[in-house]
Amino acid sequence: MERSASVLFLVALAASACSLVMACSGHSSKSASSAQPMTRPTLIYSSIANGRAIFDTGKDLDGVKIVAQASPAFNSCEACHRADGSGGRRFSDGSVSADLRHEALVVQQKHPYDLALLERAISMGFDNEGKPLDKVMPHWRLSTRDLHDVTQYVLFGLK
Ligand code: HEC
Repeated sequence: MERSASVLFLVALAASACSLVMACSGHSSKSASSAQPMTRPTLIYSSIANGRAIFDTGKDLDGVKIVAQASPAFNSCEACHRADGSGGRRFSDGSVSADLRHEALVVQQKHPYDLALLERAISMGFDNEGKPLDKVMPHWRLSTRDLHDVTQYVLFGLK
């Protein structure tokens, strides 16, 4: 009696696992095909990928252009800080674009940048010591998500 009960249980388990697999591979899922199409698949959406798009092209993955408080001399981070974040571009007011790589922003700093300090620098123009940055560095006006993502990319995506 006990044995046949456990056999039954195993059979039931196998059947439900099988139907789960079927649903996952999309064979029998009528509801999945009638669901609303998603514009951005949330499960594979990546902050770093969005941050990188903003950094390199000045547009997020939805194609939204980044803007700043005053119209910036260049529209992407890369244009001033270079694709690898190494910076070193000279501007007519004597400023030089900062090196944004991990070594410069974290390792060599008395008060290393973290996400919050970096978001402040990017959106408000204050460095990690609270000093105002040169005005060539735009005060970016990004959505909460875009600001977060480009900051993640600077902190964790650049070498
Ligand atoms: C028009 C050129 C320009 C663009 C575009 C630009 N920056 Fe900058 N950025 C600068 C300059 C110049 C500095 C150095 C300012 C200073 O030394 O006071 C700087 C400084 C910074 C700093 C402070 C680093 C430190 O050492 O304290 C961060 C962070 C930064 N930029 C991030 C970004 C990000 C992210 C973007 C894109 C959303 C961006 N910048 C776009 C010119 C630019």
